[in-house]
Amino acid sequence: MLIPIQSYFILFLSLIFNTLASPRLEMNALLEFKNEFPLSAPDPHASFAFSFSSWNTSIDHCSWKGVTCNANSGEVISLFLQFIFLNGSLKANSSLLKLQHLDSLTLSHCNLIGKIPSSLGNLSHLIDLDLYGNNLVGEIPYSLGNLSRLTYLLLAENHLRGEVPPTIGNLNQLTFMVLASNNLSGNIPSSFSSFSKLSYLDLSKNQFTGGDLPSILSNLTSLSELDISYNHFKSKLPSNMSGLHNLEVFDAKENSFVGNVPISLFTIPSLKEVFLSGNQFEGPLEFGNTSSSSKLKWLNLASNNFNGPIPESISGFLKLGVLDLSNNSFLGPIPGSMSQLVSLRVLDLSYNKLEGQVPSFLWSLPKLTLSHNSFSSLEEVVVNGSSSDLSSNSHVDLGSNSLRGSFPRWICRSTTLDFLDLSNNHFSGSIPSCLMNSTASLGDIILRNNNLSGFLPEIFTNATKLRSLDVSRNQLAGKLPKSLINCKSMEYLNLKGNKFKDTFPSWLGSLVSLRVLFLGSNAFYGPLISSHFGLPSLRVIDISHNSFDGTLPQDYFVNWHEMSSVWVDETKWPLPEDPIYQGSPFTMGGVNIFDDSMDMMYKGVDTKFPRIFRAFKAIDFSGNKFTGQIPKSIGLLKELILVNFSRNAFTGSIPSSLANITHLEALDLSHNKLSGNIPRDLAKLSFISYLDFSHNLLQGPVPRSTQFQSQNCSSFEDNLGLYGLEEVCGPIHAPDPTSGNSQQSEEFSSEESEEVLNWIAAAIAFGPGVFCGLVIGQIFFTSHKHIWLVEKFSRN
Ligand SMILES: *[C@@H]1O[C@H](CO)[C@@H](O)[C@H](O)[C@H]1NC(C)=O
Ligand SMILES: *[C@@H]1O[C@H](CO)[C@@H](O)[C@H](O)[C@H]1NC(C)=O
Ligand SMILES: *[C@@H]1O[C@H](CO)[C@@H](O)[C@H](O)[C@H]1NC(C)=O
Ligand SMILES: *[C@@H]1O[C@H](CO)[C@@H](O)[C@H](O)[C@H]1NC(C)=O
Ligand SMILES: *[C@@H]1O[C@H](CO)[C@@H](O)[C@H](O)[C@H]1NC(C)=O
Ligand SMILES: *[C@@H]1O[C@H](CO)[C@@H](O)[C@H](O)[C@H]1NC(C)=O
Ligand SMILES: *[C@@H]1O[C@H](CO)[C@@H](O)[C@H](O)[C@H]1NC(C)=O
Ligand SMILES: *[C@@H]1O[C@H](CO)[C@@H](O)[C@H](O)[C@H]1NC(C)=O
Ligand SMILES: *[C@@H]1O[C@H](CO)[C@@H](O)[C@H](O)[C@H]1NC(C)=O
Ligand SMILES: *[C@@H]1O[C@H](CO)[C@@H](O)[C@H](O)[C@H]1NC(C)=O
Ligand SMILES: *[C@@H]1O[C@H](CO)[C@@H](O)[C@H](O)[C@H]1NC(C)=O
Ligand SMILES: *[C@@H]1O[C@H](CO)[C@@H](O)[C@H](O)[C@H]1NC(C)=O
Repeated sequence: MLIPIQSYFILFLSLIFNTLASPRLEMNALLEFKNEFPLSAPDPHASFAFSFSSWNTSIDHCSWKGVTCNANSGEVISLFLQFIFLNGSLKANSSLLKLQHLDSLTLSHCNLIGKIPSSLGNLSHLIDLDLYGNNLVGEIPYSLGNLSRLTYLLLAENHLRGEVPPTIGNLNQLTFMVLASNNLSGNIPSSFSSFSKLSYLDLSKNQFTGGDLPSILSNLTSLSELDISYNHFKSKLPSNMSGLHNLEVFDAKENSFVGNVPISLFTIPSLKEVFLSGNQFEGPLEFGNTSSSSKLKWLNLASNNFNGPIPESISGFLKLGVLDLSNNSFLGPIPGSMSQLVSLRVLDLSYNKLEGQVPSFLWSLPKLTLSHNSFSSLEEVVVNGSSSDLSSNSHVDLGSNSLRGSFPRWICRSTTLDFLDLSNNHFSGSIPSCLMNSTASLGDIILRNNNLSGFLPEIFTNATKLRSLDVSRNQLAGKLPKSLINCKSMEYLNLKGNKFKDTFPSWLGSLVSLRVLFLGSNAFYGPLISSHFGLPSLRVIDISHNSFDGTLPQDYFVNWHEMSSVWVDETKWPLPEDPIYQGSPFTMGGVNIFDDSMDMMYKGVDTKFPRIFRAFKAIDFSGNKFTGQIPKSIGLLKELILVNFSRNAFTGSIPSSLANITHLEALDLSHNKLSGNIPRDLAKLSFISYLDFSHNLLQGPVPRSTQFQSQNCSSFEDNLGLYGLEEVCGPIHAPDPTSGNSQQSEEFSSEESEEVLNWIAAAIAFGPGVFCGLVIGQIFFTSHKHIWLVEKFSRN
């Protein structure tokens, strides 16, 4: 009963004596406020965390931490609490409301829970309200529209939902409003058009779907920064945006905006940064009469449906530093006028339909990404010309075009280059030894799938930063350069599909970071030298389809630590958080490892992202001339997913230690001379989806497990005498133990091939490029039933 009387008393006092506050009552109100959060504790993660320890009666409350009083009247005018774990809610009757003279209230990063009480609208003197970073739920109360003096409103990073009440439009003194990172939805209220003083508006990362943008935006004449990114806006942009004549930053990325980008946007003279990526804008791009006094320095129109040429008028944006037009359908050549963009530093035109010659003025850009277009040639650098300054370039990506001719030698003039991708083009001739000049700085060299021939030159003497080298699918021949031994940072080495003719590079053992090694489909020969040979970090090795021979000692795999240990070091290859910024999920360093992993994984291994990052470990020794026994020590590599020893001349029995590789998903021992029984313990391999023991000298019972019984009959064909195959091969066509049953396989094949074709069609319809591959991978690899057909398909 006492409390209502007390608050009535305060009201009475403040009515009668107006500004004459009672310091004692205000101190009590603060103490009551503190007591409303009995569980509070400073945020242990913030060194400057707030605590209530100074809030005690032995000192004047105006000296308490976070409390500010008016110097003359002694009224509490500001409360500032940050990084305290309040773990409680603001009550509707919170004693905070007794502090009627508050003009500034900050309760940010305080773990406030519950709703914003509607009574907060009674703090009618508030100018600043900051509830940033709590766990507030519910809707924004209508009553906040009563805070008519408010200039600063910050409610970001809570869980507020529902529509923004139209009463917020009453706050026509607002200069700063941030409602970002909540779950606010519906339309932006039309009343927002009264924010004539608003200079900063951030509604990003909510669920807004629309609003009368033309009339609202035309009135926000003070706005300098507008962020509505990561919402669900579906409309067109207003055609006349010139009312926003103070706008500097406009961010509307990741919405569903359609239509053209209005010319009026680009004529706003104050404009500096525009982000419209990830929408459905379309049509040819027009900038209108761009002025050389334009301040535009950042333009991101990526991932839309723009088509037509890149307009010549882009040259008007003389201050432009970053231009991203990637992932659209821009056509034609790069306009020559772009050479006037002297401030340009980052240019991304990848994934378009651009063609013609790449002009040489681009070579001086620090970051140049032109991949996935149809460019046909590169303009030579004008020696001693102003455009030949390569002193700052660090990233050159020309991959997946139609570039012809010899290796671009101008690259040798860059000594700062970190990333070079010329993959999937038609470059021919040899790799020039002048590249030596650039390899000291290079982290990634990706020359995959060209027509490069000759030797790989000795250019790696100083290549200590090189993380990935991919020269796969070329015509390179001869021995490997010994200078590769200096690449101490090397993680990924792909020489697959060339004509290298050399013995096994055992010195690779000194590359302690090497995680992925592809030597497959070359002419390597001779034994694998085992003494002192260990690849401690190796996760994936493919030496398939060479002429390696000799025997492997039983202890061959004992030093391959990475393959035997669980994946602990996730920091080295962090998962890409947002594929939009990280490129495809199948990259390692700068290399898209999907293509080669695909080669290895067609047999029954589930490649689903993020699997490949965390746990894909594989050995492929297939298609060589190895003899002797399969080393027992293979069983130590407990983390392997794929083991392929097929198409060799291995003899003796299958090591039962394979049963210790508990996560194994694919095991191919076919086309060898293995004898004896299939170890019964292999039935314990519960993750196996692909097994192949065919074309050996095996006999005895086939182990019984779901995994064995779900294999195709052909996985056991052509052995000496395996039995117990009735469930696999069917009771009618039970196999003759001495011969395969190829006839049945044929029937099976034609019966199901139509279905496989349908799946291929589905995958192709889904989309081009990597993601097509991904879908094929997922569809095929997740269904055991079709795996051998997939194999057949991929061999064709
Ligand atoms: C009150 O706060 C002051 C200032 O932080 C502190 O020095 C003092 O020890 C506190 N007294 C009590 C009783 O907690
Ligand atoms: C926060 O408060 C809730 C009760 O509202 C309690 O269950 C929880 O343990 C508290 N958390 C901590 C960290 O004190
Ligand atoms: C505030 O309201 C709650 C109920 O919502 C009540 O338990 C509490 O006593 C009230 N406190 C004050 C100070 O009026
Ligand atoms: C807040 O003001 C409303 C009138 O706008 C009044 O009805 C209510 O009692 C007040 N609440 C508090 C806690 O002062
Ligand atoms: C405060 O806002 C509420 C809801 O918008 C309204 O009903 C009330 O009359 C307002 N109170 C004052 C004092 O303006
Ligand atoms: C928004 O709502 C969805 C669905 O209710 C929820 O999963 C998500 O965590 C919410 N986000 C925030 C920031 O509260
Ligand atoms: C737009 O701004 C003008 C001038 O500030 C004002 O008179 C008008 O009412 C505003 N429009 C709306 C819909 O608030
Ligand atoms: C665009 O809007 C501005 C101010 O909002 C106005 O002055 C101008 O006349 C409008 N232009 C067109 C073409 O409607
Ligand atoms: C373009 O701008 C220039 C000068 O800024 C002016 O002379 C010319 O008339 C403008 N052209 C158009 C079509 O507006
Ligand atoms: C490579 O560097 C050497 C010495 O620094 C220099 O003489 C040579 O011209 C450079 N080659 C190229 C192609 O720039
Ligand atoms: C390699 O680096 C060393 C030391 O930085 C330097 O002296 C040498 O010239 C470099 N060699 C080549 C071939 O660039
Ligand atoms: C499998 O591993 C266990 C424990 O590491 C070991 O005792 C056992 O001998 C291994 N089995 C084979 C067949 O190597």
